[in-house]
Parts: sequence; structure tokens; C-alpha cells
Amino acid sequence: MTDSLPMRTDHCGTLRASDIGRRVSVCGWVARRREHGEHLAFIDLRDHTGLIQCVVDGAHDLRSEYVVRITGEVRSRPEGTRNDNLATGEVELGECEVEILNSAEPPPFQLDERVEVDEMVRLAHRYVDLRTDRMQRNLRVRAKVNGSLRRAMDDQGFVEIETPMLIASTPEGARDFVVPSRLSPGSFYALPQSPQLFKQLCMVGGIDRYYQIARCLRDEDLRADRQFEFMQLDAEASFVSQEEVLSFISVAVAAAVREVTGEELGDVPRMTWHEARERFGSDKPDTRFGMELIELTPVFAATEFNAFKASCIKGLRVEGGAEFTRSRLDDLTDRAKRWGAKGLVWMRVRADGELDSPVAKFLSADEIAGLVVTTGAVEGDLLLIVADERPAVCHVLGLLRLELGRPPVTEGGLQFLWVVDFPLFEALDDDNNPIPAHHPFTMPHADDVHLLDSADPQDFLKVRSQAYDLVLNGWELGSGSVRIHRGDIQKRMFSLLGITDDEAQEKFGFLLDAFRFGAPPHAGFAFGIDRLVALLAGEENIREVIAFPKTQSGHDPLTHAPSTIDPAQLEELGLRLLPVRKD
Ligand code: AMO
Ligand code: AMP
Repeated sequence: MTDSLPMRTDHCGTLRASDIGRRVSVCGWVARRREHGEHLAFIDLRDHTGLIQCVVDGAHDLRSEYVVRITGEVRSRPEGTRNDNLATGEVELGECEVEILNSAEPPPFQLDERVEVDEMVRLAHRYVDLRTDRMQRNLRVRAKVNGSLRRAMDDQGFVEIETPMLIASTPEGARDFVVPSRLSPGSFYALPQSPQLFKQLCMVGGIDRYYQIARCLRDEDLRADRQFEFMQLDAEASFVSQEEVLSFISVAVAAAVREVTGEELGDVPRMTWHEARERFGSDKPDTRFGMELIELTPVFAATEFNAFKASCIKGLRVEGGAEFTRSRLDDLTDRAKRWGAKGLVWMRVRADGELDSPVAKFLSADEIAGLVVTTGAVEGDLLLIVADERPAVCHVLGLLRLELGRPPVTEGGLQFLWVVDFPLFEALDDDNNPIPAHHPFTMPHADDVHLLDSADPQDFLKVRSQAYDLVLNGWELGSGSVRIHRGDIQKRMFSLLGITDDEAQEKFGFLLDAFRFGAPPHAGFAFGIDRLVALLAGEENIREVIAFPKTQSGHDPLTHAPSTIDPAQLEELGLRLLPVRKD
């Protein structure tokens, strides 16, 4: 340094007209260099706050992504050269001295927001990708969310407790990642799918209110909203009802939303699981748009049309959809079939009010009139109808609704929704044992407990649970439940699920044992921080809000994980590899 200024007096993106006349030093990366004749260059210098234009005299070997310190005087840009799209666009640095702090090889891709770069290339050089505005912004949103969640939980009297990463298996329903034990060859730890059992043990331990910003690991197929490892705000409290859980989680979510958007969350609406399925065909309805499922079963109660002789018929009204081409309609039909429908009836509403559909001729005049009245269809609309068992109809139309109406992630605001009264079981297995919808520690609804003693397994499917989800813009943000804290109900639950006493003891014995020593009534919740941050940052994929994520196929192109390990390491762990399967 040849001047007396500190290494850095200001950040690039913060200089404004009010700084004019100051001599400053800024540090960062060369974002762009434009030559102006032989001895004058315009350098855009970038740091985490943004860009500043520096006018540099003399010959300098300054290339893209060189790390430099520039000292100069803040001055007004000449008339006509201001850039309204840049926060620092009114000013520039003049009379610059340039100090190269480090050279850099040409970057593997252009760091320009407007250039779409292949994700593999971005991830392979994530350290360069992190310099982009987008990643800088997203990771800072994430840090704000974490900070505000922590403060909100602390303020509500929750104690932050870290639970172990090397554990016995947790019952969240995904596949475990396992870690071989060197000291006990042939034995394995599981990495936690969630801190579920430990947080319940904390309740037995009198912690009263627990929370953790917890890393969870699940070996499942990756999607836009799923990674192998992800973060939860995980919480549990003793002597509370479902109502209190919804309230303290709402306070935490509201704090994160306020911190990032400045907006107040207000009261989060509620809907029962049943209503969500009937109206939106989903247990995580995207309520940013309408296009709700329309009940048509009564309209076709006496139909002669074979395809509509079913226990449930529902439809969607797609405004303006009469313009869809035949091939688009065929494509929608194919999709509906792939999602499990036996078929899909489409009807275009024509100018004369008649219905244009290959099946119109099979419907009576009353049915057509009933259809038009019930759906409110008008000229130019398209009706899509599915007939089947109720769950299948709702499922398929719910997916079609999303396909046809879902707005982009950045539109429609943040629509939070509590979905309550989930069923305790989602279906019966081949042996007529019910399959739990959440985990086997979820408390049945007090009014429905008697149904657990029914001789008819179908009755089990009517049992509501004290389980609840938080939904945001059609994503499941989080789940929780009031837990079973009494041994007798838990035993009944295991026997219903076809889990024998021995199996229960082997899998969760430590929890059941703990419950014999004074378990308080307790309830809790966990929501996905990656998902919340992605939606707050306007991103479709949680990878965009994770510093070092895995690709869709579970690889890290930067560190090349997963990778093979040394034969000596295998030996030490007592492991021998089988030939790689080729299926
Ligand atoms: P659940 O399994 O529903 O509940 O998980 C809670 C939330 O965690 C997030 N999540 C994920 N995020 C990214 N990638 C994944 N692979 C992934 N899997 C889950 C979701 C989800 O809603 N122990 C219970 C909670 C409780 O009952 O208290 C649990 O883990 O946002
Ligand atoms: P089919 O009687 O199978 O030739 O079907 C006649 C029309 O009804 C076709 O357009 C099918 O896609 C449609 N269809 C058949 N079954 C169903 C169903 N369960 N729900 C809705 N549409 C159906």
C-alpha cells in the first residue's frame, strides 16, 4: 500500500453521490474491463455489496476476476454516462491507484446474471459461482432466516440443544445413511433423519421447550425441494396443545418473513386435510390461485355413460382453455393416465354454449345442463373431468390443477396455510394393517380413539390424528404432531401397525423405556429451512439457497463426493465390497 488509507475504507456497492469528494479504498474482483484508448480503462470492481466503476489511467494488466485494491476519489459521473440500473450508477472512482492483490485464471464461466450457465459447471466451481449477486443474496437471506428463527425461539423460552449425528435409526420413513463403526466391526450408526426421538427424550428429561437448527439426512430421490442433507427448525414442547404449537411456530416463521421481506405474516389460515383434498386435490394446496376441484358426482348420479359410473366424479374449469389444441389435450390425457386416472374427459365450451367433446353424445341434456350450472363454465372455457374412487380423482385433478394453473415462484406472494386433522393412517397394507401417515408416535384425535377398537379395518382410515402441516405456496414446509406419551395407547398403535412387542422393543425400546419413567404430554413440529429460504428468495430449487449442494443424482461436482475409499480404510472397518450391480 502506497497510501495511508486502510486496506479498505468502503464497500464497492455502497458508494453514493453523498460520498463525492472522498478518497476511498475498495477491494474486490475485476468484474469487467472496458478499454478507452490505449491508456484509459473502465474497471467495474465487484465485492459482496455490488459494483463500482473505476476509471484507471495507465497500463495495468488487469483481467477478469483479478483481486485488486483500488484507491481513488469518488466523483460524479459525467452527464449522459449515469447508469440508473446500478446502485452506484451516479458516481465513479477517479484518479485511481491500482494494487493487484492476486491474479486469477480466466473464470470457468461468465459471472453475469443474464447469462444462463450450466448447473454442473456452476457447482464444479461453486467458489466462483458464490461471487454472483444471486448466490450472495440467497446465502445472506439464509443467514437472516437462521438468525431470526433462533432469536424467535430463544425469546419464546426454547432451549437450543444439539442432538447426536451418529445414532440408531429414526422412524421418518426414508432410507438411512449409515456409517460403519471401526470399534464394533459389523455394526453401523445411522445418520439422523431428524432429531425426533431425541427431542422426545428431552421432554422426558424435563427440558420443557427444546429447539434446534438441525441437520437431517435422508437417502431419498432428490428433487427441486429435496436434498440428502437439509436443515430443519425442529421444536418440541411439554404440556402444550396443538394450538400452542401452531402459535409458537407461527411466531418463528413470522419473524423470518419480517426479517427478509419487512412484511407482517398476519393470521395463517387453516384448512382440514379433508377440505384440502376435496378442494385442491392435495394435502399441500397451493392457494395462490383458484381453479378448485368441482364436485360433479350428483350431476352424473344416474348416468348411462360407462366411464362416469363411478363413486366420485370431479372436474376442473380452465378459463380460456377451449383454445387448447388437440395435441395439448392428448398430452394432458396421457399425463392423467400416468398419474393413475383411467381416462380424462375434456369438453370445450363453444360460442353457442354447446359442449365440444368426443363424449358429449353419451351425456343426457340434463347432465350437460347440470354440468354447465355446477361448473359455471362459459364460452371459451375447458372442462376436465375424472371419474374413479375419491382419492384417485382428487390426486389426479390436484396434479392437473398445478400443471395448468401454478404461477411462477416469484408471483402470488407468500400464501401460508395450516393443514390440520390429518388422517392417522394413509391406507391399509396387503394384510389390512394400517400404514401411518406421519410416524407411529402421533396421537389420535380424542374423538376418534374408539375407532381404533373397531373390527372393521376400514374404520381405521377414518381416524383423524393430532397431526398438522404448514404449507407455503404448495410446498410442504413442515410437519408436526401431538405425541403419544402413554404406554397403553402406544402399544395399541404398534399392534395396529403390525409391529410386534419384540420389534417395537428392538427398534424404539429406548424411547418406550424412557416413557415408563414419567413422560409428560408433549407435541412438536419441524419445518424445512431450505424450503422456507428458497421461497423467500424466489427460487424454484433449494440448491440455489445451499452453499454446497448435491446435484440431482446426489453428486458433488466440486469435491467429487461420493468417492471410493482406501482398501486399508475398508479393512480397518471390517468391510469388503461386492461387485457393483449393473441395474
Ligand atoms: P418431516 O419428515 O415432515 O417431519 O420433515 C419436516 C420438514 O423437513 C423438510 N424436509 C426436507 N427438506 C429438504 N430435503 C429433504 N430431503 C427433506 N425432507 C424433509 C420439509 C419437511 O416438511 N420429525 C418430524 C417432525 C415432527 O413431527 O416434529 C419430521 O422430520 O420441509
Ligand atoms: P372409453 O369408454 O374407455 O373408450 O373412454 C371414453 C372416454 O372417456 C375417453 O375420452 C376416456 O379418456 C374417458 N374416460 C374413460 N374412463 C374415464 C374415467 N374414469 N374418468 C374420466 N374419463 C374417462
